[in-house]
Amino acid sequence: MPPLDLGVLISGRGSNLQAILDAIADGRLDARVRLVLSNRPGVEGLARAERAGVPTRVIAHRDFADRDTFDAAAVDALRDAGATWVVLAGFMRLLTTTFLDAFPHRVVNIHPSLLPSFPGVDAQQQALDHGVRITGCTVHLVDAGTDTGPILAQAAVPVLDGDDHDTLAARILVQEHALLVRALSWIADGRLQVTPPAAPGGRARAAIAGVDTALGLANVDTALGLAQGGRAPEQVGEGA
Ligand code: GRF
Repeated sequence: MPPLDLGVLISGRGSNLQAILDAIADGRLDARVRLVLSNRPGVEGLARAERAGVPTRVIAHRDFADRDTFDAAAVDALRDAGATWVVLAGFMRLLTTTFLDAFPHRVVNIHPSLLPSFPGVDAQQQALDHGVRITGCTVHLVDAGTDTGPILAQAAVPVLDGDDHDTLAARILVQEHALLVRALSWIADGRLQVTPPAAPGGRARAAIAGVDTALGLANVDTALGLAQGGRAPEQVGEGA
């Protein structure tokens, strides 16, 4: 298969972009980043792209009257650059059907929770506020909802006693980088299968053929002290 031609959309730091660039550079991901597009000028992710010799564009959303015209400009820039897949890597804008229809089932997002829990902004703080013991990250295809599209892969991350936003976000981020690269490499291998909704208004499903797309479980086992022997059946259900 030819390499994936990626357009990567960012709004800030760009550490997920960096994970993609590193994976391409060392041969773990068969892809080319055709364009890094930021809706904010001067962000760290743009500098990362420039260091890697990747083309960049800034299309500032504030310069556009509405979401549709911003999205149309983004589509034009991505198409001109030769991108046929789009990765949202910390891109903090919702996309309209103007954008999504231009790349059907080809827009991938990384989100820092186990969706459908904690969609939207600051998923890590939402997880802390709810007191969940296990959270994680999700790679999914983007639809017109907020973090509602078909799930491709997830990684579990334990919430530890004493965690605050920053410690939890940092632990999740390690898994984000691994999961995003892994999911993109499965797509590059041609393993992605999308099943349209069975009925109008229903939910599309996505699957990755032939691989285990649930990652990070060993991290949770380690946090629970179960790492060596896998699950401890006698403890399951304790206190229920
Ligand atoms: C990540 O946690 C990503 O999941 C979320 O925003 C953050 C972006 O980080 N959508 P970075 O810009 O990739 O470093």
